[in-house]
Amino acid sequence: MEVRNLITTNSLSLEWWNELYSSFEDIIAHPNDYVSACRGKIMSSLFYEPSTRTAFSFQTAMMKLGGNVFGFSDPNASSHSKGETLKDTIKMCSAYADTIVIRHPREGAAMAASLYSEVPIINAGDGAHMHPTQTLTDLSTIRRKRGDCGNMNIGLCGDLKYSRTVHSLIIALSNFPKVNFYLISPRELALPQYIMDFLREKGQWYIEVTGLESTMPQLDVLYMTRIQRERFTSPRAYARNRGIYLLTKSKLSRAQKDLIILHPLPRVDEIAHDVDDDPRAMYFEQARYGMYIRMALLLKLCHLPHKLPDSVDVAKEQRCSNPACITQVEKYVPVITKKNGETLCCAYCDSTIR
Ligand code: NCD
Repeated sequence: MEVRNLITTNSLSLEWWNELYSSFEDIIAHPNDYVSACRGKIMSSLFYEPSTRTAFSFQTAMMKLGGNVFGFSDPNASSHSKGETLKDTIKMCSAYADTIVIRHPREGAAMAASLYSEVPIINAGDGAHMHPTQTLTDLSTIRRKRGDCGNMNIGLCGDLKYSRTVHSLIIALSNFPKVNFYLISPRELALPQYIMDFLREKGQWYIEVTGLESTMPQLDVLYMTRIQRERFTSPRAYARNRGIYLLTKSKLSRAQKDLIILHPLPRVDEIAHDVDDDPRAMYFEQARYGMYIRMALLLKLCHLPHKLPDSVDVAKEQRCSNPACITQVEKYVPVITKKNGETLCCAYCDSTIR
């Protein structure tokens, strides 16, 4: 299967992943073999939202492959501030670049971009929806450390409602055998409905709990997240939940000796700094692997021939009512629906169409 755009983790096959992971290992082992692998290729980096690791690791990845990069890290420095639509920006950048990396505060923005691009679109985070390249980073770290992404108990802790990294990771991990999910969050920050439906329909084992400490001894991997302040619609709801989980050295006393502690970063106040020195803390190494797996990804996508976007089936009536969906602001975007199991959903943001 050829993957042209990386928008969600839904359609990724194990075969594709295994090939990407082999390339990642080879790049780490023989970096000099890759210094010209993308010479003459250009990556456009369109960041409508703040970023440190994702933006920098993509840029570094492309530079290490001998390619070039252009873009913006602040949409106010682009024609977006003059009212240019996403469609027009993408049409322009796809005329200049060989691949486009986009991060946007709206759910479904990367998919919308893919409708107008002649070059592969890589989703670097679309609102609270998905973050597939962080998932590739997470999977690479787990596989490098454990040798396998299956057969494990993983605890996902914190803001499961708004953490896009958790959503795309759960969907990807469901492809591996015997992954048990411990969903550790306050009720208010539980997973969105479409991910819960997905888990149920797949017959995946999961348990929802509120306590981190009591769950600790069961876990092979602990994935911490920050409470996503910028996604809350009410400051009071944020105030209720901030600081709700804190991983400390003492809480780790009940954990397995070979636990892997991951975090997509940035950390705010959910992991105490003294945990950083624990050999089980892998989050900084995880961020480093993010650059190598992005190199492997760019290597695959940058060389694909430019091609006009495929036409889509437009559903005339059923507009999405999710206020955070890209279709709420980019009104020209065609209405597209899909079935998640039995449920009719918005094809951009996955929310249920009522
Ligand atoms: C994450 C993101 O942007 O979703 N960060 C990242 O890309 N490494 C997580 C977060 O912001 O909390």
